[in-house]
Amino acid sequence: MSSILKVEDLVKYYGEGENQVRAVDHTSLQIERGKFTAIVGRSGSGKSTLLHLIGGLDRPDSGKVWIDGTDIYSRKDDKLAQFRRKKIGFIFQDFNLIPSLNVWENIVLPLGLDNRKVKPREVEDILKKIGLQDKKDAMPSALSGGQKQRTAIARALVTRPAIILADERRETLIPRLS
Ligand SMILES: Nc1ncnc2c1ncn2[C@@H]1O[C@H](COP(=O)(O)OP(=O)(O)O)[C@@H](O)[C@H]1O
Ligand SMILES: [Mg+2]
Repeated sequence: MSSILKVEDLVKYYGEGENQVRAVDHTSLQIERGKFTAIVGRSGSGKSTLLHLIGGLDRPDSGKVWIDGTDIYSRKDDKLAQFRRKKIGFIFQDFNLIPSLNVWENIVLPLGLDNRKVKPREVEDILKKIGLQDKKDAMPSALSGGQKQRTAIARALVTRPAIILADERRETLIPRLS
């Protein structure tokens, strides 16, 4: 079976000396195509940092990431951005919807950035699948948390990426009382 994602000995530290945070410390993993995988860990354990590295939104101190067979960090920034737009769907922790664009415009944004044509039927299909048909003209400020999240999911699906990376919702970070 071919791996959609391979991570090899990935390292990302923040800061220096005694303030140094080893956010990702020699991490390796492999995920097969078509699989759904969850990465679990307490707050601050490096999940978001790892996802950003896998998504090519940040570069590691060392180590490699292959997505769909491509060694992503071997690409210069502009080529990496191009690859990211075509192959990776990213659902951010705080959704990153553009406040001045409505739901439909937010969803089709990645297509425009990649100079691709919007196929309204496909967008309608996605809207129907995630239950947002009647919200396509709504502005993000008028959406519930769940509707914002579903808009972000639709935006990640619209380019038909090879892999979707989804960070947890901030609201799920409920402090533990024990
Ligand atoms: N840009 C940054 N600069 C400095 N430290 C950071 C930065 N981003 C994350 N960290 C630190 O790296 C560690 C891992 O953070 P993060 O990846 O956000 O964890 P998680 O998503 O599992 O809660 C934390 O200690 C955090 O404070
Ligand atoms: Mg996080």
